[in-house]
Amino acid sequence: MRQISRFASLTVLALLSLACFCVAPCAYIGPVAPFLSTPMPTPAPAVVVETRIPDDTPTPADTPEDSSYGASGLGDSYYPLMGNGGYDVQHYDLAIVVDMEREHIDSVATIDALSTQNLARFNLDLWGFDIESVQVDGQDATFERDQGELSITPADSIPEGEPFTIVIIYSGKPGEGAPPGLLDLLEGWNFYEGGVLVAGEPGGADTWFPVNNHPLDKATYTFRVTVAEPYVVAANGVLEEEIANTDGTRTYVWVMDDPMASYLSTIAISNFERVDSTTKSGIPIRSYLDADIRREVEEPTTRIPEIIDYFETVFGPYPFDECGVVIHELDLGFALENQTLIVMGYQFVNEDVIVHELAHQWFGNSISLKSWQDIWLNEGFATYASTLWIEHTQGAQAAQAYMDMSYEYFKEIPEHAMVIIGDPGPDNLFDWAVYERGAFTLHALRLTVGDEAFFQILRTYADRYHDDNAGIVDFIALAEEISGQELDDLFQAWLYEQALPPMPEQ
Ligand code: TRP
Ligand code: ZN
Repeated sequence: MRQISRFASLTVLALLSLACFCVAPCAYIGPVAPFLSTPMPTPAPAVVVETRIPDDTPTPADTPEDSSYGASGLGDSYYPLMGNGGYDVQHYDLAIVVDMEREHIDSVATIDALSTQNLARFNLDLWGFDIESVQVDGQDATFERDQGELSITPADSIPEGEPFTIVIIYSGKPGEGAPPGLLDLLEGWNFYEGGVLVAGEPGGADTWFPVNNHPLDKATYTFRVTVAEPYVVAANGVLEEEIANTDGTRTYVWVMDDPMASYLSTIAISNFERVDSTTKSGIPIRSYLDADIRREVEEPTTRIPEIIDYFETVFGPYPFDECGVVIHELDLGFALENQTLIVMGYQFVNEDVIVHELAHQWFGNSISLKSWQDIWLNEGFATYASTLWIEHTQGAQAAQAYMDMSYEYFKEIPEHAMVIIGDPGPDNLFDWAVYERGAFTLHALRLTVGDEAFFQILRTYADRYHDDNAGIVDFIALAEEISGQELDDLFQAWLYEQALPPMPEQ
């Protein structure tokens, strides 16, 4: 259920190598030979093109046998068992002691939640680990496990609308028993030689903590991570405290106090050096670069402040209190937009990737998806942000040329034409088409409604749904409201039909 196919990861890589090739300082716009030589994997079977703009409200996939049992899923059409019903998590407090040699963690998860129904039983998502105990409001609870589902029966059932606290003590090697993820990496928590990398999109948070694992349930987080010196720990948010313990370990306390989708939660451990800067608007930037490769990778990261400064002019205020990247000494071939702490492998650090992941802080992180089917709302927006950055740094003509080239090039690759980006299916969630055609969709919208309305749409969208969730229905309604135009046909053609529409005339 949580697997990202190899196909998906390869296309992410291909996309980004195309982008960075094209955004060389001299703005070379032309045939993209290096990308063309990338072998394309066999495409998924053709999708039946009957999709329409979907009804936006997910309905729980299972009806529990007893109405006082929380559902085991949140009704996501691609991942029916992701997340759980019956409650709303407010805060995760994760105290994790990491043994780097044994590749083992000992953890205490304290979860503050609010019941949304009477709950005699409820689920969390978690793979693997030995669970030592589960308590609800200070009383021992019984629990059962079935693959990634952890069902908890509290001693007393919880009435609707009540706050309650779950404490789970567990230990083991993260990810054991969980389905495989990207390339050699697990989707979730990975130990590697000298470090820990956590990349969880879409479902990997359940490889390291018990979680209501769907973007519909955003929450705040405290991470208290203890590791032997001289390892350094970075995580989402702000480093509130660093405690030197008497046994030669250190505890790093990181706090993310804006709501966050679970797949964006991250911890990074290695021999990092911290590099600080700040944007014009005063957002602190703190990046963590592996000391061994700092020199090689630092240069593009120095542009983070100016990129955020620019995005604030087009998208509105930066949605969080801090930002930065963590760069591992690993050859990953991908980057992930983890909230306020973008994770990258050292051979993949360039301006375009940073631009893309920074744009996700507005589109994808501050505004979360309602359902994974709408993934283009994340990837299309972040991809189009690269074009906006080209427009800003190299001028409108360069941006137009880049769009034209991308569009012409896209037509050459029939495999991608088969992906319906408004309903790509879980195996094609991160297909190149979702990125590229997603960006074309926004460009087509811009050409249809004009620049003024278009940028007003982006800013209003970022503002109205910040710290919240939105789906395609919300976006179309907002675009129609601001432009005063009827836009169903445009979105139908770009998102739900196989044929690639022509770009509207300028
Ligand atoms: N969202 C990432 C991007 O486009 C790509 C991605 C999807 C990813 N799933 C991932 C990266 C898992 C790392 C791990 O920026
Ligand atoms: Zn992306």
